[in-house]
Amino acid sequence: MKKLDISIVLDVYDSVDELPATIQKLMQSAKQARDRAYAPYSSFMVGSSIELANGIIVQGNNQENAAYPSGLCAERVAVFYAGATYPGVAIKNIAITVRSLHHTVLVPTPPCGSCRQVLAEYEVNQEDPINVYFMGETGQVVRAKSVKDLLPLIFDSSFLK
Ligand code: THU
Repeated sequence: MKKLDISIVLDVYDSVDELPATIQKLMQSAKQARDRAYAPYSSFMVGSSIELANGIIVQGNNQENAAYPSGLCAERVAVFYAGATYPGVAIKNIAITVRSLHHTVLVPTPPCGSCRQVLAEYEVNQEDPINVYFMGETGQVVRAKSVKDLLPLIFDSSFLK
């Protein structure tokens, strides 16, 4: 028996002010998208903005539904929109921010497992890492330099062959 030791290093910024200007702009775009989220059931609003390799920024927010599982997370709304509209164009950066109508979210809020899986598929296909920046409503911002750091032991299409 061997041990497999997987370690990751994340960058933690004290606030958005510490981010590069382009990422500050991307996070601002995610905040705008977040505030348009349709989240009447959870009151938990999520926004995500993606910067593509062609410079275009694509926004997404969570879209809930009375049939709860039919809703979709902000990250996947943005990723699938990017894939549908600009197929084959690489994702450079994704910025994610949340807001709850019940409490102030100070903790950087990472994408859920399903969104990590979807992001991983795009990262594997484009053969270039995606920077994932995530924050709460305010406060610290965390950056993962690759989806691999958020989802080690990725399940991808290579297992199907
Ligand atoms: N949500 C997202 O949009 N992204 C995530 O990564 C986690 C959760 C949404 C789904 C649902 O509308 C609400 O947040 C509460 O789970």
